[in-house]
Amino acid sequence: MAKGFFISKTLGIVGIVIGAGAVATIIALSVVYSQEKSQNNELKPTSEVTTTKAPTVPTTAPSNEPWDQWRLPQTLEPEFYKVLLWPRLQPNPTTGLYIFTGSSSVVFKCVQETDLILIHSSKLNMTKDPTLTAHGCTPAPSIRSTWMQTKTQYLVIHLEGKLTVGEKYELHTEFVGELSDDLGGFYRSEYIENGVKKVVATTQMQPTDARKAFPCFDEPAMKAVFNITLLHDRGTTALSNGKDIESIDTEVDGVEVTRTVFDATKKMSTYLLAFIVSNFGFIQNGDEKPLIRIFARRAAIESGQGDYALNVTGPILRFFEEYYNSTYPLPKSDQIALPDFSAGAMENWGLITYRETALLYDEESSSNGNKERIATIIAHELAHQWFGNLVTLRWWNDLWLNEGFASYVEYLGANKSEPDWNINDLIVLNDVHRVFAIDALASSHPLSSKEEEIQRPEQINELFDAISYSKGASVLRMLSDFLTEAVFTEGLQTYLEHFKLSNTVYTDLWDNLQMAVDKTGTNLPKTVREIMDRWVLQMGFPVVTINTTTGQISQKHFLLDPDSVVERPSQFNYEWFVPIKWRKNTVTSEPIWLLEKNAIKNEMKTNANEWILANIDVVGYYRVNYDPENWNRLLNALQTSKDDIPIINRAQIIDDAFNLAKARIIDITLALRTTQYLSSETEYMPWEAALDNLDYFYLMFDRTEVYGPMQAYVGKQVKPLFEYFTTLTNWTDVAKGHTDQYNQVNALRVACSTGLENCTTLVKTWFQQWMDNPNANPIKANLRSTVYCSAIAAGGGKEWDFAWNMFQTAALASEADKLRAALACATQPWLLNRYLEYTLDPNKIRKQDATSTIINIASNVVGQSLTWDFVRANWAYIFNQYGGGSFSFANLINGVTKRFSTEFELQQLKQFRDDNSAIGFGSGTLAIEQSIERTTANIKWVAQNKEVVLKWFTDAAKTL
Ligand SMILES: *[C@@H]1O[C@H](CO)[C@@H](O)[C@H](O)[C@H]1NC(C)=O
Ligand SMILES: *[C@@H]1O[C@H](CO)[C@@H](O)[C@H](O)[C@H]1NC(C)=O
Ligand SMILES: *[C@@H]1O[C@H](CO)[C@@H](O)[C@H](O)[C@H]1NC(C)=O
Ligand SMILES: *[C@@H]1O[C@H](CO)[C@@H](O)[C@H](O)[C@H]1NC(C)=O
Ligand SMILES: [Zn+2]
Repeated sequence: MAKGFFISKTLGIVGIVIGAGAVATIIALSVVYSQEKSQNNELKPTSEVTTTKAPTVPTTAPSNEPWDQWRLPQTLEPEFYKVLLWPRLQPNPTTGLYIFTGSSSVVFKCVQETDLILIHSSKLNMTKDPTLTAHGCTPAPSIRSTWMQTKTQYLVIHLEGKLTVGEKYELHTEFVGELSDDLGGFYRSEYIENGVKKVVATTQMQPTDARKAFPCFDEPAMKAVFNITLLHDRGTTALSNGKDIESIDTEVDGVEVTRTVFDATKKMSTYLLAFIVSNFGFIQNGDEKPLIRIFARRAAIESGQGDYALNVTGPILRFFEEYYNSTYPLPKSDQIALPDFSAGAMENWGLITYRETALLYDEESSSNGNKERIATIIAHELAHQWFGNLVTLRWWNDLWLNEGFASYVEYLGANKSEPDWNINDLIVLNDVHRVFAIDALASSHPLSSKEEEIQRPEQINELFDAISYSKGASVLRMLSDFLTEAVFTEGLQTYLEHFKLSNTVYTDLWDNLQMAVDKTGTNLPKTVREIMDRWVLQMGFPVVTINTTTGQISQKHFLLDPDSVVERPSQFNYEWFVPIKWRKNTVTSEPIWLLEKNAIKNEMKTNANEWILANIDVVGYYRVNYDPENWNRLLNALQTSKDDIPIINRAQIIDDAFNLAKARIIDITLALRTTQYLSSETEYMPWEAALDNLDYFYLMFDRTEVYGPMQAYVGKQVKPLFEYFTTLTNWTDVAKGHTDQYNQVNALRVACSTGLENCTTLVKTWFQQWMDNPNANPIKANLRSTVYCSAIAAGGGKEWDFAWNMFQTAALASEADKLRAALACATQPWLLNRYLEYTLDPNKIRKQDATSTIINIASNVVGQSLTWDFVRANWAYIFNQYGGGSFSFANLINGVTKRFSTEFELQQLKQFRDDNSAIGFGSGTLAIEQSIERTTANIKWVAQNKEVVLKWFTDAAKTL
């Protein structure tokens, strides 16, 4: 699955002008911008989102009844399902409910004697008594009783006698379920076309909602073959994992319908099933195999919005066939864009579902960030078609390997279709740096969880976090680098070949990689497993310290808050086997391994003209610190000969310095000094690293006297960048390179937000031109998010209503998203309060977008307190609507509280936790605790740093 939406990590800028009361200045708020800039960020949680502690097993009274256990007993194994489903796209005239009816026959084998059948079923009503027949010669025992165990989501069938080991049985059920708009299981999505409401029936099964569509053994290791049949209104199209092999018009219960029968699937897990009935249009590739089709609303297909996805899918598929040395396992690959979808995308085998913004592209109106998001999410989901779908992890505790892997190779896949983008480098900003911020908390957790710790659906949902995705991707990238790509892919290929159509645990991959290491004679200081255990079984990562005077090199668990207490024990004492790529000035040296806590490496001693730089290209998952002399030489090199330092490492120096300062390992002024050379920097990655880190300063200080001098300093630094892009593009054009385009947006955003008049005038003019002629938007797609946000912040009801109107009528989902985010930039409280109310009305803001909209509003310094009041007042409702989802709920809690930095706010937060303990926090339970931990740390940080930061900015701004 790909993450649903992205919340800005650069939200701090929101506060820039408003906080200081300089209301007249146009502000380019970054709320929107970040959605814009993509970096495929929408895939990832923000730096401050969830880090989960090992979830605890339920505290309710223990029961030994099998139906009170969250895991299926090991008594039955499904082999084959025949499923018929009939979604009704019109509400029932008497009840007003949208429903589906269905029947399912599952053939299973008894592998342990039992008189119980437990099969997952949730929110389904049985319309007939289930029946059981034997496939062998011994007749099936008759059914004694049947009931629904609601809490653990089972249909329980108690038999008169025992099932016989080795025999096969067939269980038949008939049922009705609601086709509700809850974005889970079999659900409905709606949109308006030519003034008419259209309904789509679609699915999202991962992780535990296949049981909402039909009774099934809903665990990933319970693989089976599925024969699917859909009944649907004449004129609609039915899709599923397999190819349709027959589509016949017929009559059922006096209703005219079409019956579409799908080819039997391969042996697969229930969470990868998909059923869709729609009125969509599609485009497809030529005669090549496999068949590739892109489905979407007809208007979207007709205006060419599916073309880009179709263009890139073929090349990416072929890339993975080569990478895995395995032909695409299915005859077709359908991809479909849905108006309502909770995640970013879902890798259902052969029928991948997407949010519209993750699949649909428009040459005129989509930004390069939108384009990057589409290419990377497609690559992510296609990567899963083998890794995850063909070979599946046995249980959800290993989710990190599935998602971490796809999050790593999505860059490789996208790079294949867009080789000019240098997209592989961006993993450092998007994943490595981002997850460092979370994994440096004492409340982080290891990649790997114990199987028995992950039981309930909300525990499973909580695993879809930044650690699984971004840390998983980061350590796999490191592994691939130190093994070499050739060895890594060799091991990967034998792993897939070995385990196809079955299930694994993560060490199976290590074993196959080890075989490749042994076969190729690759030189490693330890086995793959010994090295990786350190990264997988213990949380966190080291800071490696190099003393260039003594040659001493050492490692220590890096904690953002040095006062925090690590309660989680580690069998490895928080020491890692660290591969270190490094160089002395421009000379790259032999990589070394740090296998102990401390070592002396004489080659790391330097003389007065030399500097050492370690973790070249940030392929290693660790931070680096040096002796003060080496830091000074590096800062000097940035000022005088920055091209001697690779671009990625310029970003690293900034990000490491700021975080080492936060952890009180180095002085905060040393971190601030890393930004001084930026006045001569034009590359995106270092700028982005600096802005990301300065955002925290904005969050903490934009309501204080630090704000003015900070603005003056940042404005001074960005001015040359703004002028650079003025010369390059005159703002009538976009820069050529992909990351240059991102930095062009940075230049505009920050120049405007620090009040540079040339910038604010530009932006004001563009928006006014658009308001004067709504049918001809003159604003370049890349710049729209920033421009919209600035204009709405500076404007009032008129600008807001104009943008709201444009939002509602936007023909392209990503354009609507830019406007939706920009609407949160308003600075008048009544506009923000009204907007908050809209988030509770699905006719105004779709459910899939509600939490991200609330977070956008909270990120605005004016909206922050309004949102906090709103969330508290509406907690019960918000919880019931969104509490169960995988991604958005923890994001909501973190997003609303990220600015908290006073004792008063901390008390309010604790009060909120206590007041709502009865309702609960669902998948945001740990996010509440993290918010409290973060607020506590913020209070301390502000107290310690405010004076010195104020002085530094004041001095730095004076030298204007
Ligand atoms: C299932 O049964 C419950 C309880 O009788 C009822 O409230 C619900 O509407 C039924 N669902 C459907 C889809 O018929
Ligand atoms: C399942 O579908 C396949 C065709 O894909 C068909 O050959 C087979 O007979 C079906 N099995 C059953 C039990 O209907
Ligand atoms: C898709 O590919 C075609 C043929 O190469 C090209 O003309 C078209 O511009 C591409 N469309 C998009 C949106 O990339
Ligand atoms: C690719 O797979 C085939 C068949 O499994 C195998 O014979 C061949 O050696 C593999 N190629 C590489 C480069 O590993
Ligand atoms: Zn995924």
